[in-house]
Amino acid sequence: MSSAPKKRKLSIAVGDKVDALWPADGEYYPAKVRAINEDGTIALDYADGDRRNDATTSELRCKKPLLEAPTTPEAPPSEPSEPSPINPDDALRLSYAPDTTSHRETEYEAIRRFFAERLEQRRGGSLYVCGAPGTGKTLHVERARAHVLGSIPTRDAKACFLRGTAFASGDAFLRAVAKGVCSSSVLQGDPERGELLLRLKETCDAGTKTNPVLRVVVVDEIDSLLKCGGEALRKVYGLATRETSTLALVGVANAIDVPRRAFFGDIPRNSEEASRHGTVVFRPYEHKQLVDIVKQRVGEGVFAAPALEFVARKVAAHSGDARRALDACRAALLSARRHGEHPVSMARAAEAIRESGGATHGPLAAVASLPHHAHVALRAALDLSTNADRSFTRSALATAYSRLQPQLGRRGDCAGAADDSVALLESAGLVGAAPDRRSKALKARNPGQAKLRVLVDADDARAALERGARSSALAARAR
Ligand SMILES: Nc1ncnc2c1ncn2[C@@H]1O[C@H](COP(=O)(O)OP(=O)(O)OP(=O)(O)O)[C@@H](O)[C@H]1O
Ligand SMILES: [Mg+2]
Repeated sequence: MSSAPKKRKLSIAVGDKVDALWPADGEYYPAKVRAINEDGTIALDYADGDRRNDATTSELRCKKPLLEAPTTPEAPPSEPSEPSPINPDDALRLSYAPDTTSHRETEYEAIRRFFAERLEQRRGGSLYVCGAPGTGKTLHVERARAHVLGSIPTRDAKACFLRGTAFASGDAFLRAVAKGVCSSSVLQGDPERGELLLRLKETCDAGTKTNPVLRVVVVDEIDSLLKCGGEALRKVYGLATRETSTLALVGVANAIDVPRRAFFGDIPRNSEEASRHGTVVFRPYEHKQLVDIVKQRVGEGVFAAPALEFVARKVAAHSGDARRALDACRAALLSARRHGEHPVSMARAAEAIRESGGATHGPLAAVASLPHHAHVALRAALDLSTNADRSFTRSALATAYSRLQPQLGRRGDCAGAADDSVALLESAGLVGAAPDRRSKALKARNPGQAKLRVLVDADDARAALERGARSSALAARAR
């Protein structure tokens, strides 16, 4: 997955694998482009044997060839690519799906493995994919799903992609799940919630079947369901984690703690069911990674090196969001074009960053909204990072955390929260992995010795903590 693409295509061609709408049920299914008609419509052969001759490009979801799995989980970052044959302005659009991606090999492999193992075992489970905005969660979940399930016939696996924001109620969500991965009989007679749940449970139960259908539901922005469909979400998670279930649920969101808020509340952490929930965290991109992501799309020479470096550093310092980096680069490119300038200069890059308001977002801006226990963990991390190499192990952080926690009060808030707090800080981009120069064998033997470091300026972080403390004191007084 990390090798630079040799060839890029923007439009579809005969033989391309796509996810295409099947108008009868409004769902997308894997298909292959059989022909492109003279009027621009597309003839498709669906993987399950159905055919269509009149699809339009807006009905296609995945226009790119499917990804190959990475050969190693931590393949090295790609070398800067050769100049792209497509217009750089198009290549920087958010809707453009590059043939290959980089710097997400480990996360991609974890998601791909989840799908592959569920398919092999025909057993459900849940995977929660979280992390800061623009870190490639949706892109890589969709790629992994297409890679593993894209050409699997529906008698073996049915999959649907839902967006949490699309539902106004838990019932609407349950119906979409049923429609997406069950036969139409489950919704026959417009059943009440209790009846629908029963039917879903029966349909998703492996029972004595030797090769039951795997049913995969991907819910992007799953956190929005907490507000309007929390109970329904909890039920679906419950269905997915029953031992004999064939329902696999992949939730995607920014917040680190959605599963716990939705359903872990009354499940003991070490229970059999809890062990069937996996999590993959997408960390904010560092500046070199953002440089690679942009270069992989536009090739060399479009941006003056310092200009691209500047955008990447600014975005990495404030959010590590690839979307912001791509947007700022595109704005700089268009502005440079208007001024007849090539390559894009530092001045254009600075102008684009200024106009994108990059400084008001990002890890430091997120500090105020973090819970108290994450503030304690950040203080502990800042205290530890004053030593010579400024990095520390997770266990050192847990010790510093438990030492600080009683001094900072509100004990009840923090019980057992050290790990979660660190995960929150990682997800917000405040803390991340420090370079680990140990051998592979040593890393595997002692994963707990991997070091972390604070990714933002320590003084800025302390100031943000002060601001956070002041605003929560004010809020408490106002209550
Ligand atoms: N590693 C990568 N290589 C190439 N492009 C990437 C990479 N990561 C992200 N992108 C691009 O950045 C944009 C944002 O990615 P994506 O939508 O997957 O982010 P996200 O983590 O789902 O964000 P959000 O939480 O806001 O939904 C997309 O245009 C995507 O193509
Ligand atoms: Mg997303």
